[in-house]
Amino acid sequence: MHHFAYKGGVLHAEDVSLDALASDVGTPFYCYSTATLERHYRVFSEAFSGADALVCYSIKANSNIAVLRTLGQLGSGMDVVSEGELRRALTAGVPAERIVFSGVGKTREEMAFALSEGIYAFNVESEPELTALSEVAAGLGATARVAIRVNPDIDPKTHRKISTGKAEDKFGVPYERARDLYREAAGLQGIAPCGIHMHIGSQITDLKPFNDAFALLRELAGQLKDDGVSLEFINFGGGLGVPYRGTNDVPPHPDEYANVVLDAASDLGCRLMFEPGRMIAANAGILVSRVLYVKEGTDKSFTIVDAAMNDLIRPTLYEAYHDIWPVDEALRAAAQRKTDVVGPVCETGDYLAPDRDLPPFAPGDLMAIMTAGAYGAVQSSTYNTRLLVPEVLVKGSDYAVVRPRPDYDDLIGREKIPDWL
Ligand code: LLP
Repeated sequence: MHHFAYKGGVLHAEDVSLDALASDVGTPFYCYSTATLERHYRVFSEAFSGADALVCYSIKANSNIAVLRTLGQLGSGMDVVSEGELRRALTAGVPAERIVFSGVGKTREEMAFALSEGIYAFNVESEPELTALSEVAAGLGATARVAIRVNPDIDPKTHRKISTGKAEDKFGVPYERARDLYREAAGLQGIAPCGIHMHIGSQITDLKPFNDAFALLRELAGQLKDDGVSLEFINFGGGLGVPYRGTNDVPPHPDEYANVVLDAASDLGCRLMFEPGRMIAANAGILVSRVLYVKEGTDKSFTIVDAAMNDLIRPTLYEAYHDIWPVDEALRAAAQRKTDVVGPVCETGDYLAPDRDLPPFAPGDLMAIMTAGAYGAVQSSTYNTRLLVPEVLVKGSDYAVVRPRPDYDDLIGREKIPDWL
């Protein structure tokens, strides 16, 4: 469910016409809907309303600080994976005690910064990382609250590049070694083991892998309690998928996911924690682009638009499908034909929608690339020396440019020509 819909023949974000917005900010641009962000956050958190639960929105999905503040004001915590993300969360006004820090390669500097800010917990991914964290914390006279991320070796049945819970993936500590590592952690200076963490992958649309993984979490929680660990929380990670193909692929509802979680953990006396990213942000954002040219090749038609793989890399990186809607509703009624929607970047892989049945877009027409609010702007780059596109946040009939389009001086001006040239 999202708040992008046609009104008076024009696609709107809530009550803002995308046609008018395009004239104002120029194309391409990302547009986010506050009502959709809020709705997704609420649907997820209300699924756990009877429990002691903390939802830590996974910043990596969309880290614009206006988005973070929107969610923070609803009570969301944040899952961060770098000092930069931690700084974003703090800048957005999210209290440190609602922030968890994940990632396989935290540096000592990042650990020290997070400790000095007093974050809720570190999700520790390896034995050497645990040792480093202990040294840093002891050096600062601080205590790091720790959850060890456990790798259950379970196939989440998702794209291979976003599976994180199989033995071959770089994440976490093998399930069989976790119990020993908790024993070790208990003896380390500056470390307070108080949680378990698991995240098996992203864009998961089947509950079975969660069910299997959470059974292991339950087993480990029991063992740790036997070992005298005072287990305060279990962090179930993120990973509920979203419908990229409209009504054709409907993922489980958060209530169904909650049932799986509660079956595994409601009687353990632990706080339940979650790190959803995609399901909060994906459907809350679109990328709006204008058609530049339509080119008839010998075998194919190409619809060349002003957005490209550097703005939205998901189609070429993961063969991801994003629905495309014309901003002008009248186009929807026209007969469809196959075309490759491509950008101006000089790569054959620069496509947004290969071989797609679409109405006949003409130069100047606007299109919305849907479900682009998660892993869209955050994964963009300036490849081909293209300017990063602006981000706009809509709320009702208001909108604000929450990241303006840089100018060429921003883009090139930081580079230096050495004296010898
Ligand atoms: N927690 C951890 C430790 C994670 O690694 C991730 C995602 C999440 C939570 C959030 O998962 P979500 O709720 O969003 O599924 N760029 C890829 C997705 C990469 C996901 C990485 N980790 C894409 O565009 O599909």
